[in-house]
Amino acid sequence: MYLSLSYTTLFVCLYCVEVVYSQDASRTILNASRTGLPSSDVVGSITIPTTFTSVSSVEASSIFSLTSSASFIIITAAPTSTASSNPSIAPFPPVGSIPRDYSPAGLARLWDLIGPVEIPPITTTVIPQTPIALPSPPPALYPSFFAVTPKDILPDLKFPKGFLFGVASAAYQVEGAVKDEGKGPSVWDWASRQPGVIVDNSTADVVDLHYYLYKEDVARIAALGVNAHSFSISWARIFPFGAADSPVNQEGIDHYADVIATHLESNVTPVVTLFHWDPPLALSAYYGGFASPNIVDDFIHYAKTVFTAYNGSVHTWYTFNEPQVFCSGLGSFPFNLILPNGVNSSNAQFQCSYYLLKAHAGAVKAFREMHITGEIAFKSADYVGMPWRTNNTEDVDAVERHAAFGIGIFADPVYTTGDWPQILKDTLPPDYLPRFTQEESKEILGTADFFAIDAYRTYWNTAPPEGIGACVKNLSDPLWPSCNLEVMVDLNGWASGPASDPLTPWLQATPQFLRTSFKEYHRRWPTPKIYLSEFGFTQPFEGMRTPAELFQITEDPERTNYYMTYLSELLLSIHEDGIPVEGAFAWAIMDNAEWNSGLSARFGIQYVNYSSPNLERSYKRSAFALCKFMAF
Ligand code: GAL
Repeated sequence: MYLSLSYTTLFVCLYCVEVVYSQDASRTILNASRTGLPSSDVVGSITIPTTFTSVSSVEASSIFSLTSSASFIIITAAPTSTASSNPSIAPFPPVGSIPRDYSPAGLARLWDLIGPVEIPPITTTVIPQTPIALPSPPPALYPSFFAVTPKDILPDLKFPKGFLFGVASAAYQVEGAVKDEGKGPSVWDWASRQPGVIVDNSTADVVDLHYYLYKEDVARIAALGVNAHSFSISWARIFPFGAADSPVNQEGIDHYADVIATHLESNVTPVVTLFHWDPPLALSAYYGGFASPNIVDDFIHYAKTVFTAYNGSVHTWYTFNEPQVFCSGLGSFPFNLILPNGVNSSNAQFQCSYYLLKAHAGAVKAFREMHITGEIAFKSADYVGMPWRTNNTEDVDAVERHAAFGIGIFADPVYTTGDWPQILKDTLPPDYLPRFTQEESKEILGTADFFAIDAYRTYWNTAPPEGIGACVKNLSDPLWPSCNLEVMVDLNGWASGPASDPLTPWLQATPQFLRTSFKEYHRRWPTPKIYLSEFGFTQPFEGMRTPAELFQITEDPERTNYYMTYLSELLLSIHEDGIPVEGAFAWAIMDNAEWNSGLSARFGIQYVNYSSPNLERSYKRSAFALCKFMAF
């Protein structure tokens, strides 16, 4: 999910020459003549030369969602007010004003910040009937002269022995039961209730109810032949108050112990992420969460608790999911309402990056000192990029800037230098980007056993119209500090790949660039092992269909093509390019709460009927295709 948190992709119509950022809370329709926008609402603009015939992207922290059509742009921008406009939700109290009361009353007070929570239809762990009977697989979709069936794709090439053929999920996105069994509120439990944040106004209070249905979910993927599941632990279930001096919630510990055991019993390898964007809300209330140095020790304590609890049962661990995406979100609504003093929308991302890296390094140090068995890293996101205009030095520089601000900000310190990319240090003053001491650098370098990349897509980059030099000098340039544009079309205006659902405008299927991308990851951040830790696709308009259209929903050819082409390119990457890829994880195990897109952007290889009392799951064609591909 990149939409609201960092990379806001602006779909620029063929005739538009100007893109305007608005702070207006309501929908603003901009056409080529840019009508109807009070100048007080305009907080920034860039001129797109007419040679940019189609799509570009900027990092625009104040804008959080948009849709497009051929002739106009609709931008939905974040309200600037710090007060909630929903009368049932109290505005967030000033950071530090809530006392550290670790009693049940203190927990209730934290939940009051959220307001009422939906009670799930099921409140105990469900024991499914096993084995799961798979429905008969779908017939071939296309004539064989047009597209081979999964088993006939590159039949002579095999994935290496021990390859993790997995699916992925994250606690907030699938668990539901948000207030059950002692869990504290997370920042997303709060954020999802702020006005305009979730496009369909859904919450993740119930969502897939994986918290109680995990046994069935594990059995369903095992039946498919999936041999791994990458999921996250909710910090607020283990420590409802988050803090190191606060009580551990034994029910949370026991819950994940059984989740892990269930995977092992089904021969599904559990791959565990400690943090997938859902910090305990208490830590925001106490000190401003990841924008504060206090987060470091609290995270390390949480990590140690989890390592101790599950040592020996889990082999592959991640500290953080996509830290760059997480940190860049802190400067945007609504997360910018819960920043501590001295941190603001402009520098929050980099303060967070600094503390988060220290938290990561501290957790890995503990992992090693505690002799926890297994391997540990974090999940990178994004792609390196390719120059849009070939042989254009500014575009070559634009790629370097994209790589530095995207993957490099966390990967350089951990894998290669112990320090921020030089481009970041040259651009960002120390009050934005704290510099590492020598000691800190030493502690951070080498704190990953492998490289993991959520590689959904690869695009081109180009220099801003005003030039990189001018942008870097101008702190109010809307493209500052990364000062590059992402381009999703070639020089002739053709898309880099098929479009996904309009709710995920950042995502086009780009299998043809996968091998180039993996070569770049391996060249820049070399490790003995790489995981494709997430990849996936939204079948266009799937979220608009009703449960009565199930047979149209389960037929998901674009998603199926995405997986088949990505996996076959991955095979070539392994066999022809010698890239040591040892696992691939399809996002997602099932439809889920897709952050700002709520329940409307569906990434699952299984459909979830949110109107049925038992939240019924159905396999889509893509699930069968993945399983066939694996089996052969
Ligand atoms: C990833 C994120 C997932 C999921 C996915 C699809 O960036 O880790 O949580 O949202 O994108 O957007």
